[in-house]
Amino acid sequence: MAESKKKIILTGDRPTGKLHVGHYVGSLRQRVELQESGKFDEIYIMIADAQALTDNADNPEKVRQNIIEVALDYLSCGLDPAKSTLFIQSQVPELTEMSFYYMNLVTVSRLQRNPTVKNEIKLRNFETSIPVGFFTYPISQAADITAFKADTVPVGEDQLPMIEQTREIVRSFNNVYGDVLVEPEALIPSNEACRRLPGIDGNAKMSKSLGNCIYLSDSPEDVRKKIMSMFTDPNHIRVQDPGNVEGNPVFVYLDAFCKDEHFAKYLPEYQNLDELKAHYTRGGLGDVKVKKFLNQVMQEELEPIRARRREYEKNIPKVYRILQEGSIRAEKTAAKTLAEMKAAMKINYFDDAELIQSQAEKYGV
Ligand code: TRP
Repeated sequence: MAESKKKIILTGDRPTGKLHVGHYVGSLRQRVELQESGKFDEIYIMIADAQALTDNADNPEKVRQNIIEVALDYLSCGLDPAKSTLFIQSQVPELTEMSFYYMNLVTVSRLQRNPTVKNEIKLRNFETSIPVGFFTYPISQAADITAFKADTVPVGEDQLPMIEQTREIVRSFNNVYGDVLVEPEALIPSNEACRRLPGIDGNAKMSKSLGNCIYLSDSPEDVRKKIMSMFTDPNHIRVQDPGNVEGNPVFVYLDAFCKDEHFAKYLPEYQNLDELKAHYTRGGLGDVKVKKFLNQVMQEELEPIRARRREYEKNIPKVYRILQEGSIRAEKTAAKTLAEMKAAMKINYFDDAELIQSQAEKYGV
């Protein structure tokens, strides 16, 4: 374990659509901060295409098309290929091999209890026709994390059960075969609004299928329109009415995005968000004014992201090259871990001269 004292990050996303501001405040922004903190020896960011296929087996084109979208979103947020290894899951076949061995350490009932999988099965109406690959994706996720000996996994809150399951697999593996793997920790944003950004329609989850997302790649005009149409407190009808800020999407977004400096710049009659909330709660503050402010705040955060995206969009082959180089690097690391695992599991026959010799002796040679 001594050499694994390194600080290593692994995380990723399924390429099933463009990334939205929920992904951004829920995890992406934190990944970039971690990258810039200089505290990590290695950072791996994975586009989880194999995992995306576990419930899109019949739609490989969707996954294929979204690889570049997610890569552009990553790069435009400030993930820097000079500091972080960006790679594609399917291009690291060692991950699949590891998953196969981890399957022996997990029971069917344990998988059935995974709350995220349970919920996803319900959402997808799989009922009794759950693809085995989908059912076992938490195991493959454990392979993703452990292949890199990651100790830190920055993810959205919905991924906590996956990390827990990974930790259990690591403990079982190390118990049975010896200390090879590293137990990871999830890292989620401390700000509750960031962990659970609602859709612009007030639905608890921002999701493509609900059509309630603000995408990182949306134009300034689209962002503005979406913000101006946002659901707020339905009982706050006239400006003078007292309003509710709890769970009110406009205020949840402000919780996630705004800083005191934004008030000085755009809304100097207030010092901070608490003062704005107090005014809204008391009555006399209209939704339009709050939305216009939110728009200014969000445009300020999104503009550098869009600018970086425009640059990378001019050189798509370069983006694929970044992913290819990253995948080669990632595979080297995963292969090293897999070799250690196989030695620990006693399935490294041809590397083991002693084994061959002792078998030979058994047969009296
Ligand atoms: N399950 C994650 C998602 O739905 C993607 C993912 C795959 C992942 N493997 C991972 C995240 C390993 C963190 C670590 O977005």
